[in-house]
Amino acid sequence: MTGDLLDVPVWWDEEGNLLTENPSGGDPIYVMVAFERPMMEKVAEIICRGGGHVLNIGFGLGLVDDAIQTYDIESHTIVEPHPQVYARMIEQGWADRPGVTIHNCRWQDVDWSAYRHHFDGIFSDPYPLDESGSQFQLDQVAWMRLVNRIVKPETGVVVHFCVTTDPDEARRSMPSLVGAELEVQVDPCDVEVPFVIPEWRRYGVGRHRIYIPSYRLRTHTGAKRTR
Ligand SMILES: C[S@@+](CC[C@H](N)C(=O)[O-])C[C@H]1O[C@@H](n2cnc3c(N)ncnc32)[C@H](O)[C@@H]1O
Repeated sequence: MTGDLLDVPVWWDEEGNLLTENPSGGDPIYVMVAFERPMMEKVAEIICRGGGHVLNIGFGLGLVDDAIQTYDIESHTIVEPHPQVYARMIEQGWADRPGVTIHNCRWQDVDWSAYRHHFDGIFSDPYPLDESGSQFQLDQVAWMRLVNRIVKPETGVVVHFCVTTDPDEARRSMPSLVGAELEVQVDPCDVEVPFVIPEWRRYGVGRHRIYIPSYRLRTHTGAKRTR
């Protein structure tokens, strides 16, 4: 989401989805849909498997954050810049939950210096993004570099957002990072899709088994991930 889009209003519909205006003037855009809850629950399971310190970028409907809260972890850090979404988080008492820290800004603007090799689990879902723009490419590279600095080497797990029913495509979707070898895993999850949004268009409505890719950063010693 660019700085401009963060200034655009959002609203919640009766089905519990989060929407925003379409910058091209067409139908509103779904920022987050309630039907992705099972996927967000699986993401939480993956990033909380090791306990410890967990980071989520983009609160949206708070689906992944709700699920993270069900695990026995040491801390839960959330980054959410949108003023209305942040206001709702405050209304819902997120700032008062034990172990929760909220950064009310873009992930690009957080001071990460206190988080060096800190996180055991990381998820990032800052949609909507302008995936065609060069800023998106720059942000992808900056994100991967940042992850390299803030994730626990060897043991920290990072979920990469991707919607695919093909486990090989899920593996291949991983952005590349110069100087780091990624140890990739995919976890299956079933999602019932009641209506189509762009990410789900190629699958259509119905029940789909999707594969969620996650990775750990391997060092040159080639240490293996154990599960
Ligand atoms: C798709 S929603 C996240 C949904 C969330 N995973 C859930 O489980 O409900 C995207 C969220 O990312 C936020 N966002 C957009 N750009 C961001 C950025 N640069 N840094 C952090 N969050 C961002 C949006 O305001 C929005 O709340």
